[in-house]
Amino acid sequence: MKLAVLVGSKGRGSNMTALLNACKSGRISASGSLVIAPSENIPAVGNAHDLRADIAIIHPSDPHFGEDLLAILDAERIDLLCLAGYMRLLPKDVVRDFEGRILNIHPALLPKYGGKGMYGMRVHQAVIDAGEKESGCSVHYLTEKYDEGEVLLQMKCPVHPDDTAETLAARVLELEHECYIGAVRKWIRQHIYAGRNASL
Ligand code: GAR
Repeated sequence: MKLAVLVGSKGRGSNMTALLNACKSGRISASGSLVIAPSENIPAVGNAHDLRADIAIIHPSDPHFGEDLLAILDAERIDLLCLAGYMRLLPKDVVRDFEGRILNIHPALLPKYGGKGMYGMRVHQAVIDAGEKESGCSVHYLTEKYDEGEVLLQMKCPVHPDDTAETLAARVLELEHECYIGAVRKWIRQHIYAGRNASL
């Protein structure tokens, strides 16, 4: 099983780092991993170099982005594509060709607080403004719409009365790393191991 992580131009890459480290330590049983990034000059790519990860650079505003992405996924024999801090929609042909094999992480308990424009501190501020007592994160299957696919795994944490968007974001981010690793492990159990048993 080979994993690719697609990061966005604003991504710090902390979820990417958590996933790559989990592949290295064996918590995620992957035979290889690849980072796909829009440019060399973002923090996530610096971290990916430090981890000696394979890196492919393609920019989402390139007119051939969809084709190039599919060509990389095919050439590298990627089984699962994980979006981490990638804030755009993926081209429809990528979503269709890779259906059921693309995951995204969102810093709230979907279906609440998702959708177009809901990312970063806006999500956490909306949770606080609504007076929610708990928040968390969701790993979901990617579709052609923002934050709408079936949820694979969620983790919850409390919202404290004195929380700011920043303090809540930090609490949720700690959960995100575990949640993403857990979701990928679950995906592997459901798709790779289940398939093997079925063929026995
Ligand atoms: C994470 O909090 C992730 O949930 C969020 O971007 C951040 C990326 O952080 N994604 C979204 O809001 C998607 N709608 P990272 O670069 O440190 O992994």
